[in-house]
Amino acid sequence: MRRVWVTGASGFVGSNIAYVLAARHGVEVIAPTHADVDLTDGALVARSAAATRPDAIVHAAILNDFLELTARRRDAWEAFVGATRNVVDAANAADVPVVLISTDWVFDGTSPPAPAAEDEPPNPINMYGFLKAASELVVSQRARRGVIARVAGVQGVHRARVGGGRVARVQDAGFGYLVASMVEALRAGRPFTVWDGPGLNALATPTLATDAGELIWRALEREVTGVLHCVGGEHADRVALARRAVKAYDLDPDLLLTGPPPDGAIPPGIAIPRDTRLDATRTAALLDADLPDLDMTLARLGAELDTAWSTTA
Ligand SMILES: NC(=O)c1ccc[n+]([C@@H]2O[C@H](COP(=O)([O-])OP(=O)(O)OC[C@H]3O[C@@H](n4cnc5c(N)ncnc54)[C@H](OP(=O)(O)O)[C@@H]3O)[C@@H](O)[C@H]2O)c1
Repeated sequence: MRRVWVTGASGFVGSNIAYVLAARHGVEVIAPTHADVDLTDGALVARSAAATRPDAIVHAAILNDFLELTARRRDAWEAFVGATRNVVDAANAADVPVVLISTDWVFDGTSPPAPAAEDEPPNPINMYGFLKAASELVVSQRARRGVIARVAGVQGVHRARVGGGRVARVQDAGFGYLVASMVEALRAGRPFTVWDGPGLNALATPTLATDAGELIWRALEREVTGVLHCVGGEHADRVALARRAVKAYDLDPDLLLTGPPPDGAIPPGIAIPRDTRLDATRTAALLDADLPDLDMTLARLGAELDTAWSTTA
């Protein structure tokens, strides 16, 4: 596995996968930006893949705007399902594996069946989950060597942005970035309110983005196909995750508050899956991987945050 095309490598998850492949495993990463290759352009994707001759394709790009997904349905379909079809066709033409980065939000978030195992049929309850589940079907039905790598509650630093974070660190209904956002506030002496209550993704399986990248690397190396849950080894609710991070990083617990999201913070009319814990037993066995518990995940995340923030201080 010498050369891998990573789509969406200027994004949060994609930049971490690209980092793991290149910096830890010596892979040449091909990472055209959205401006270089719009993945909804099938002919361009085919030309680009043929010209760069990757040994695998990892598809992490998405149109990441919840409101756009319902406001511009045709564009959203093309950006998720059409782009995935184009990437899968390029992988098939090159006879290489293709990894779709997917999400725990393909599930409805009721419990049971959470924690959902790899073979649990998806049952999405919002447009994002529906488009991801439809993209998964493209891979499972069309790819000759397809991997569906669901990631969840992704924590980490953004490796394509100076400072490692969002432009303005914020919280949303999911778990993504929650720890980094909270740590940044508390380290600056500012209080941080972890949202709690109904209408939120309350329970998930927090995952360090680089750990997900390592599992994807293993899948490629071992030529594993099918559905994988590339997640951490311990489930948590939002508040427990934040409290464990406060303890792990020796932060001031008095600055950690809990409360409902401010009015207007959650887009109205969008159903949020409550409990999206993923069971990764099959994945761990297939990849011969020890999934880290929360303490290990937080220790690794702390080291990544220190490095990212010290280089931009
Ligand atoms: N973040 C999480 O917590 C989380 C949790 C579960 C699953 N995931 C999955 O992880 C993947 C990446 O999410 P993310 O949070 O990393 O998103 P992100 O930071 O918004 O990155 C998305 C990337 O896709 C690119 N892109 C969008 N449309 C494109 C197009 N038509 N052609 C080419 N590139 C395009 C964007 O480039 P531009 O910015 O230039 O448009 C950007 O680089 C997604 O599949 C998502 O479902 C994420």
